[in-house]
Amino acid sequence: MMDGAVGTLVSELRRSRKYRDTCDGVLDRTAEWALERHKSPKDALKAAKRKLHQVHGLFFDSVDFARIERGLDCMPGPDSEAMREFCGSVLDSHISTRERQAHLADFYREVFARTGYPASLLDLGCGLNPFALPWMNLPSGTSYRAIDANLRLASALNRFFEAAGFPALATAADILANVPKDPVEVALCLKLLPALEQQESGFGQRLVSELDARFIVVSFPTRSVGGRNVGMDRHYAHYMGNLLEPSRLHSEPFTIGNELVYILAK
Ligand SMILES: C[S@@+](CC[C@H](N)C(=O)[O-])C[C@H]1O[C@@H](n2cnc3c(N)ncnc32)[C@H](O)[C@@H]1O
Repeated sequence: MMDGAVGTLVSELRRSRKYRDTCDGVLDRTAEWALERHKSPKDALKAAKRKLHQVHGLFFDSVDFARIERGLDCMPGPDSEAMREFCGSVLDSHISTRERQAHLADFYREVFARTGYPASLLDLGCGLNPFALPWMNLPSGTSYRAIDANLRLASALNRFFEAAGFPALATAADILANVPKDPVEVALCLKLLPALEQQESGFGQRLVSELDARFIVVSFPTRSVGGRNVGMDRHYAHYMGNLLEPSRLHSEPFTIGNELVYILAK
């Protein structure tokens, strides 16, 4: 049962515009984490908001869900140029996908050249990445499951999948509380591990060992959010060196645009 102080803090967080659509699991866990560190409810609220911003809120500040939902109301038919245009404009509104956009087709061509086109794909901490579907060239029967922490995002993605005629499912859930256990051919963890490590140190390693995926695609940004080159590629290469048993590396890491990509095999 949820402790009274945790419940009160979660209600406060949910009252804020920024976190009203964040899933329960992420809010409960962050509230508990903050209350373990701060006696004063005011300080705990501040700490919880700071943490949520770093790992989740920051990425959605620039996303205009109302605009995406209006676009979905009249989404053009699957495979049309207009649908690609709509998806491109959505991808442009989230820092991570905006950075990948110039290289999107190359990105998925390079990844699937190494893993093969998957019959099942899991997109963890997906953000807006499922809107890259028109550039992925997945076979039409591919089972695609997307997970992130935001309920409004999950609902928009499910509407998008339906309009695109693609058999996919998006859910809002806390990955730290529940690592998906279903077997899958390819799991995408794109620019995700740094955010998970900020919530629980060492979680990247746990995720990689617990996922039942034939291939895990792990990527990292090589530039800061402001676009600066601050040695992030070296930093994440070192991180992966510590995390990985070398036998799990399926191919040499490669860089596309501002993204460093590792493909791990089971
Ligand atoms: C840097 S963004 C990457 C988004 C996407 N994978 C991409 O590369 O375009 C990290 C994403 O992880 C999500 N996230 C962070 N912690 C999470 C958690 N505990 N459970 C579910 N999603 C989480 C955030 O909401 C955010 O959308």
